[in-house]
This record gives sequence, structure tokens and C-alpha cells, in this order.
Amino acid sequence: MAEGRPLRAIFFDARDTLGNVDRPGHLVPFRPTTEQLLQSVKALGVKIGVITNLPDDVSAEAGKKMVTDAVLSQDPKSGKLRTIGDYIPAGHILTNHEAGVSKPDPRIYRKAAELLGVKPSEALFCGENLPECLGAAAAGLNYQLKPFPPGHEFLPALITKLGGSKTDSGRAFEALFEMEHMLGERIFAIGKKISEALKAQDPKKPIADGVRTAMGVFVYLIDHFADPTHLRAEEAVIPIAVARGMDPRKTQWVLNHHEQARAYWRSIDVAWNRILTGDADDREYAIGDFWRSTEAFVILFEHHAVRENDEFYPTAGSYFTDNDDTLLMNIISQIGWRDIGPFAGMVESAEQALGTRAAAAAATPRLMIKKSRGAAGSQPAVGSGGLRARRSTKKRAAR
Ligand SMILES: [Fe+2]
Ligand SMILES: [Fe+2]
Repeated sequence: MAEGRPLRAIFFDARDTLGNVDRPGHLVPFRPTTEQLLQSVKALGVKIGVITNLPDDVSAEAGKKMVTDAVLSQDPKSGKLRTIGDYIPAGHILTNHEAGVSKPDPRIYRKAAELLGVKPSEALFCGENLPECLGAAAAGLNYQLKPFPPGHEFLPALITKLGGSKTDSGRAFEALFEMEHMLGERIFAIGKKISEALKAQDPKKPIADGVRTAMGVFVYLIDHFADPTHLRAEEAVIPIAVARGMDPRKTQWVLNHHEQARAYWRSIDVAWNRILTGDADDREYAIGDFWRSTEAFVILFEHHAVRENDEFYPTAGSYFTDNDDTLLMNIISQIGWRDIGPFAGMVESAEQALGTRAAAAAATPRLMIKKSRGAAGSQPAVGSGGLRARRSTKKRAAR
């Protein structure tokens, strides 16, 4: 900080600092940390702005709207949505299109300071990207690197409930698992594509490169993400829910399905090894075992995930206090991989190998589910058409 000069403005980066961009022009703030952060900064009495680099095909206007419309929370009584725009007006947002240069070019930070009527030394830039912070320093601004995945700084605090509805307990653990299910849906789609290709495969001919790559990635995902990260974490919720009064018989189907899936995955692993070792006589049978086990797993788990979203999570959530929810988030953060971003990247690579990436790209410009498993992380926007649309319309049996 420049000597004797008070801080008069704080600028944030948007993507990965205030939230995730899950599709072009749509920012999903980290909850509840982004709102807590903006509240704290507002209380300091400084001006708040955003400096953002947009892709060529997103206009400055659309980029500003993406930031100001991003939903932070919902008032449980009135249903009113709070957005980033309640803290940061569109006029305080500078995009690279308007600046003519992108971060970390120092000129964009100076222009931003000018926009808010402060000297560079009276401003601070906060982002998760070190080069962008250093660019700010080169422009004479103060800077603060914000850790990513975000949220750890708020971990001891209770996690604010969001968007309670008839099909949603509003628990953070529930939102986190539903987020993982979104990645799961893409894994199911990959499994289906592989099954289709293998059904049509002439066992005497080599498997097409793209399909073979996708098979390897698929096996990796089920061995490293699906079981050790997702299923184990879900299973950690059950004893706490039962301790709080949930009928254990209502949890048995979850465990049964998990065991069934593990049996299919073991079968897929074995079939994959048989295919790789290339015994010509066995090949036809190995390929058949691969697609039959994959198809069986996908059929079961498409149903399983919806039933968990609709029934298991909200029912378990109804037995939890906010403290239990926070405790569970802490426990889940110790199980499997902390950040599933790399798995989202692998899913994307399998989609590319199968040629289905074009369709997926429309919805996900790049890594979509990159979040902290240690805190509220990135949860879906209220009414974003994301997770809520993926629930079945079936009402839960119990709450
Ligand atoms: Fe499950
Ligand atoms: Fe699940």
C-alpha cells in the first residue's frame, strides 16, 4: 500500500475469483463466500469494481450483465434474489474489450482506476491468478492473491442455507453431490457412446483410436473419481443421518446400488485388461463384456443419481442441523480428491476423443466443475436451470 494513501477502490477478477463460469455468459458465484466477501468489502466503505477478460465472442455488455446478474443468495422469506449487481454496478466493471488490452497488461488496471476516479495507488486488485496480480502491481495498484479453490477462509463458519424448496433441503453437502452428479451425467454419456461403438465393432479389426482413448479415460474415471471420491463421500453421510434419526432401511438401496456398480466396474476393469493384452481368441468376448457391463452400469446409475437427488439427499438433509451440514462438508473434504477439476478435464478429453465435445462445448466452455470439496465451493445458481432441471419431477417420499 502506498504510504499514507488510503484504499479507495477494490477490483475483483470475475471468473474463478467470484465464481465459476459454467457456460458462456453465466457466472455462478461461490456460495456463501462471495457474498460474505462482498459484504466485508462494502463495510470497508470503498468502491467495488471488476476487471475482466472476456472471450472475443462475449460482448462487453454481456460480460457486465453476467457479473451483475450472478445470484448470490435468496431471501428465505421474500424469495428475493441478491446478486453481485447489488454490490457492484455495471458502471464499475471494465472489460478487456473496452480497455483495448487484456490483463495482465498494466494499462487495463490504470484505466479501471480512472473509471472509478481513484489513483492506481489508492486501488487494490484481487484475483486468483498470479500473473494478473503482478500486472496490477506493475500498474502501481496494490494486489491480493485470492486462493483457489475458494472458501477455506470461511470454513469454520456455518454454511448458509440457500434456496430451500420442496425438493431441496438446502444443505451444502447436497449441492456438492448434485454438482458431482452433473459430471456423472457426462460420464454416463461417454459410457453410452462407447457401448454403441463396441456393439458395432468388428472384433477382428482394431478399435478406432478415439473410442479406445475414451475407454481408457472411462476406466480411469470410474476407478479414481466415481468410487473413491463420490461414492465413498456419499457413504460417509449415511451414519450421521442414521445417528440423527433417519431410518437405516431407507439408506440401504444407496449402499446396494453402490455395491452393484462396484461389481460392474470390476467387470469393466477386467474386460479392459483382456482387451489391452490382445488375446485374439478372447477379444470378441472381452469387447462384449466391456460394453455389457458399461451399459448395465449406466442404466442403473442414471436412475440411481436421480433417486439420490430426489430422495436420499433431501431426506438425509432433513435430519441435519446447519452444524451437521458443516461437519459433513469437513468430513467429505477429507475423502477422495479435494478438487474434481482434473476429472472434469478428463471427461472433456474423452468427449473430444468420441467427437461429442462439440455438443458439450456449447454448455461448458472449459472446466466446469472446479470447486473446493472443503467448503461451500461452487454451487449452482438459484433457478439457473442447472441442477434443478435435472431432478425428476417425482416428489420425495419423506423429508
Ligand atoms: Fe450414490
Ligand atoms: Fe451419487
